[in-house]
Amino acid sequence: MAQFRLPPNSRLQKGRFFEAPAGAKQIRRFEVYRYDPDTGENPRVDHYDVALDQCGPMVLDGLIKIKNEVDPTLTFRRSCREGICGSCAMNIDGLNTLACTLAIDDIKGPVKVYPLPHMEVIKDLVPDLTHFYAQYASIKPWLQTRTPAPPDRERLQSRAEQELINSPSACILCACCSTSCPSYWWNSDRYLGPAALLAAYRWLVDSRDEASGERLDALEDSFRLYRCHTIMNCTNSCPKDLNPARAIAEIKKTLAVRRM
Ligand code: SF4
Ligand code: SF4
Ligand code: FES
Repeated sequence: MAQFRLPPNSRLQKGRFFEAPAGAKQIRRFEVYRYDPDTGENPRVDHYDVALDQCGPMVLDGLIKIKNEVDPTLTFRRSCREGICGSCAMNIDGLNTLACTLAIDDIKGPVKVYPLPHMEVIKDLVPDLTHFYAQYASIKPWLQTRTPAPPDRERLQSRAEQELINSPSACILCACCSTSCPSYWWNSDRYLGPAALLAAYRWLVDSRDEASGERLDALEDSFRLYRCHTIMNCTNSCPKDLNPARAIAEIKKTLAVRRM
């Protein structure tokens, strides 16, 4: 998978070092980005030596162990611990991914943990996703119909129609894709980014939806859609193996056909 190395941050200040307890075995070092805007201090990287024989196997297990036993000020999001909720997305070993599904043993050397890149940081590993969610809401991610629903049943789909929405519906809105996209880094104020565009595609190909014209009108914009330059970082970083780059290409193709 592609790796996105963060540039060295010359403004990082010297971090703190926490040794593992005496007698601990299988030590792995975690290097964790720390930032608290309330202190007015520059960010730093703290070093924690973690005894893996007393820790679960995933990077999130290591972070929880640090928070519970060493440093309760360390702040990060997590909920399901099953790769379902998307809340533990962060940049680990240079890759945007989910801390709960990445095994510590799959990383060589120190476990380097940073927040998702190019986002405002609320604290430590917690990025501000307000704008990301607003962009998701802007594509109207719900079924829009113009005709009355059948009186006696749901709006049905064939198996083939359902399969078209299966994969894009599996998006957990973790933001790993959008925050790995160079176009999104520089133009996120106007470019929707791969996560929102994958969601837009999901509703465009839903056979029950009757607003595809309006949806396409809203996307046909040099920034909202066409800032995607098919760099593919998004697809390479998706922890659910989804393909937002292909979905974006399909939207562009649909618009091209509509213009003919
Ligand atoms: S394919 Fe498009 S959305 Fe995906 S990383 Fe590249 S520019 Fe961004
Ligand atoms: S497409 Fe993949 S990486 Fe992007 S938000 Fe959805 S699950 Fe996360
Ligand atoms: S904690 Fe839910 S995806 Fe990791």
